[in-house]
Amino acid sequence: MDRKILVAYASQYGATQEIAEKIGGVLGQAGLQADVFPVDRVRDLTPYQAVILGSGVYIGQWNKEAAAFLQANEKALADRRVWLFSSGPTGSGDPVELLNGWRLPAALQPVADRIQPRDIAVFHGYINPDKLNFIQKWVIKTIVKKPFGDFRDWDTIAAWTTTVAAELKDAEPVR
Ligand SMILES: Cc1cc2nc3c(=O)[nH]c(=O)nc-3n(C[C@H](O)[C@H](O)[C@H](O)COP(=O)(O)O)c2cc1C
Repeated sequence: MDRKILVAYASQYGATQEIAEKIGGVLGQAGLQADVFPVDRVRDLTPYQAVILGSGVYIGQWNKEAAAFLQANEKALADRRVWLFSSGPTGSGDPVELLNGWRLPAALQPVADRIQPRDIAVFHGYINPDKLNFIQKWVIKTIVKKPFGDFRDWDTIAAWTTTVAAELKDAEPVR
């Protein structure tokens, strides 16, 4: 295991991908070496001392690739420092409050409890109506009940990543 950091993401329309790229950029500015990859391109966690894993939220769930990655790599993740994030709610206000306290799909909580992530963050997301079909727009209006638009808060994402970087720089390799 070396000192690299993996930022892995699942993103349907690019919002979470851009957040992952921002996280990778901030880690790089902090002098850390980060790879930013979609989860389905990651085969082996051996090169990484830490993993930041994020997904867009769809009807209260993570993308299935991100959920599968978390479950399939539970053992390797439990041996590493892990941070999780979701890119979801639109609208102003604290993103966790916008989701009534939701941080992670309930089905993933047991695996998260075993992995013991350092943090589970929720960031504002981006719902671009131009990319959605009629049914998806209907789901947003009637089930998700959140506004369309780009509510990603880059300062919050950068500040969160700075705290992650500080923890990583202070820490010795796990093994
Ligand atoms: C069909 C649909 C369902 C969604 N469901 C939720 C939801 O349940 N909770 C939420 O906070 N955001 C929800 N969103 C918003 C997305 O999570 C948000 O736009 C996210 O940033 C998208 O990331 P991505 O482009 O990387 O997939 C939904 C968006 C769509 C299109």
